Order: sequence, then structure tokens, then C-alpha cells
Amino acid sequence: MRRTFVAGNWKMNGSKAENQSRLEALVAALGQRQDIDMAVFPSMPYVAQCQQILGGSTVAWGAQNVSEHTGGAFTGETSSQMLRDFECRYVLVGHSERRELFAESNQQVAEKFKAAVDSELVPVLCVGETLEQREAGETQRIISEQIEAVLSLVGSDVFANGVVAYEPVWAIGTGKTASPEQAQEVHSAIRAQLAEANIAMAEAMQILYGGSVKPENAAAIFAQQDVDGALVGGASLKAEDFIAICDAA
Ligand code: G3P
Repeated sequence: MRRTFVAGNWKMNGSKAENQSRLEALVAALGQRQDIDMAVFPSMPYVAQCQQILGGSTVAWGAQNVSEHTGGAFTGETSSQMLRDFECRYVLVGHSERRELFAESNQQVAEKFKAAVDSELVPVLCVGETLEQREAGETQRIISEQIEAVLSLVGSDVFANGVVAYEPVWAIGTGKTASPEQAQEVHSAIRAQLAEANIAMAEAMQILYGGSVKPENAAAIFAQQDVDGALVGGASLKAEDFIAICDAA
């Protein structure tokens, strides 16, 4: 039985003061909860604040990106070991905004995934198609290639240490959520692809949905057989909405 995982991707939002009050609200409402997995992903400077406030609670934290390199002359980058220094449990890799705005290739995302696992972080592999790709009937091909790039680099045993997040690009930040049926169709295809590599890994893999998840639509999405949680953007910036989405799990 897979545990539900609700994660909040704060993107480049927030301030030390805003994050302080949001984190304190999450600890008060969710800090002892043990029936689901929970995590928040702040911008990099606030990872230490998460460690300070969330430490000792059941709400984990992580970073929104990580270098595929382990150290050296990579100005501005952060290594997976540095994230472990601040007790990050997770790290997002391959978010569509990084693939689009920072030209992250499938191969580079695969290397980031490996770097994360090498430092005992749990990588959350973000995959998803654009509206044009969906309308061209290319959804499964695009997502399959994104997943295969990682599987072929690390193998299924290492892949088992990660989480997958399906985020249709056309649903991110648009208020246009994929229908529960659309989400289930893609999640089922992802699980089938993973099962070709390793049935046990596929069955155990948490596959999250991301893309305009809100308190009012979360329960219907979570009810889908192959949806194991959510990667929440905008709604995670309001503590009460993130808490409500966790309560829908
Ligand atoms: O990583 C989660 C994010 O891409 C979803 O954003 O605002 O549509 O929930 P949002």
C-alpha cells in the first residue's frame, strides 16, 4: 500500500517573515501527522529556516533544484551533499519550469536524479507534456522519454529511491487542472512503463499529480487508483490551503 505524499513547491515566492509564519502554521496543524508523507520546497536560502522550524516534526523539506555535480567551479550551484547538510529529505529534479527556462535536458535531469540518490536524497522526478504536445498526441512519448532517460542512467533499483510527479505543463499555474480521469490515464501509463523495468518498483512508486491542485479538487484527484499525492504550487503558499489538501488525502 503506497503512502499518500503531499508536497508544496513554493517556487520563487516568500520571504523570511512570510515563511516563518507559514512554517509555524504547518507545524501546528500537521507536525505530528504520521499517516501521510508531507514536504515543502522553499527557495534555496530558506532551506535552513525549514530545518530550524520543521525539524522534529513529520513535515519534511527539500530544495527545488540540485546540481548534477558534486562540487567545484560551478558558481551559483548547490550540490546534493550541501542539501543533506541542512537535512533535506527531498529535491525536485526536472521541473518543467527548469526544463523550459533553464534548458535542462532529459540527460541533465537524469544526472541530477543520480546525484540526489548518491547523497541519499529522495529525488522527485517531474515529468509532463505541453499543451501542443498533448494536442499532437505526444503525451505518452514525451513522458516515456523523460522517464527512460533516468532509468537508462541509474537502473530500476536506484530509480526505486525516487518519486515521480506528473505535471502537465498546461495545468501549471493556469487554474486548468487535468481532470481526475486525465491524471489517472497518464499515471497508469507511467506505472506500466516502470513495471516493464521492475514490477515491485512500479507498484511501490509514489506518483504525484501537479497542476492547479486546490482544496476543492484534491479529493477527486487523490481518489484515482494510480495517484499517490500531489505536488502543489500556488495553493501551497497559503498554509490553510496546503493543510486542507493534506486533509483531503
Ligand atoms: O511543482 C508544482 C507546480 O508546478 C504546480 O503549480 O500553481 O499549478 O499548483 P500550481
